[in-house]
Amino acid sequence: MDELREKLLNMIDYTCNETFNTTNGLKSLKINDDVVDIEMYIADIENKEAQQETKNAIVRLVKLTLGYKGIKLKFIPSKLKNTIYDNNCKFLLIASGKGGVGKSNVCANLGYALTRLGKKVGIVDADIYGASIPNVLGLPRIEARGDENGNLIPFMEYNMELVSTEFFVEENRPLMWRGPMLQSMLDHFFNKTNWDPNLDYLLVDLPPGTGDVAIDLGQMLPQAKMIVVTTPHKSASYVATKAGLGAREMKLEVLGVVENMSYFINPVNNAKEEIFGAGGGKIVASNLDVDLLAQIPIGQAKNNLFESDEVIGKVYDELASKVDKLLN
Ligand SMILES: Nc1ncnc2c1ncn2[C@@H]1O[C@H](COP(=O)(O)OP(=O)(O)O)[C@@H](O)[C@H]1O
Ligand SMILES: [Mg+2]
Repeated sequence: MDELREKLLNMIDYTCNETFNTTNGLKSLKINDDVVDIEMYIADIENKEAQQETKNAIVRLVKLTLGYKGIKLKFIPSKLKNTIYDNNCKFLLIASGKGGVGKSNVCANLGYALTRLGKKVGIVDADIYGASIPNVLGLPRIEARGDENGNLIPFMEYNMELVSTEFFVEENRPLMWRGPMLQSMLDHFFNKTNWDPNLDYLLVDLPPGTGDVAIDLGQMLPQAKMIVVTTPHKSASYVATKAGLGAREMKLEVLGVVENMSYFINPVNNAKEEIFGAGGGKIVASNLDVDLLAQIPIGQAKNNLFESDEVIGKVYDELASKVDKLLN
């Protein structure tokens, strides 16, 4: 199996003339009853000739050179076709080890703070376990809108463009997302959405943990950076670290850690009260060898999102400046 994996990684994707090792293109490899089942990302699915050449070489390797009985080979397109991809848009994946740590709140508020810096921001709500960005923005249930070509038209809220998994589910009906459906949804969000071509930032609210969405996105957006959100509680830091290490495995860079619900500012004496423990963000940052970018206090926004004249809004302003500096 290891020999097979290594040899597969050394094969060439003739649609871009790079090895699958370089393109990080081996998605999955299984062997059942001496039949090898492979999923690989291919750079240019439209180039049928080069794709066939690649396929032939892999089939020869598996069946003739290594002597397996059979092979199932599936190619998945890896390149983005959207113009934002060429226009220097920065992709930020907002991740967490588990749900309920405030990932969606951090995603929306960081996005909004970036707009206050004059940046054009889009948000992909990709949390397949429960879309919460519309909720954070105070939106009622939103329905997908498309143009005549079947492309999604993003919603515009708080100066940010938004698409959401909510487009693809019926109300109150949880949906089990499986491989092809998930890929088709992500394909829609990144390739078939009429984003402003001059977006500066596209933030992605990931599902908690290290699942398929992160793996597929790691492949589709190799230049994306990840921000890991955690709470100060030490027990949360273990799973948050895992999410960050998962990203590394996909060769994604972790930009830093945001600790949310870090402390409560007592309105009586302005004392910082560490209601949910302390130190979690620092632990995760040090485990991943990155910076703790921000500590967000506990509090409610006057409206849905924090503004610059609110204490927590200022914390988000600082976070946005830091992120923008790190990425430019
Ligand atoms: N800094 C904060 N202070 C107070 N409540 C918060 C804060 N951040 C998030 N919350 C609340 O915690 C809950 C979970 O937040 P959410 O962003 O939906 O988390 P996740 O996306 O990680 O599941 C929500 O009810 C949200 O309002
Ligand atoms: Mg959420």
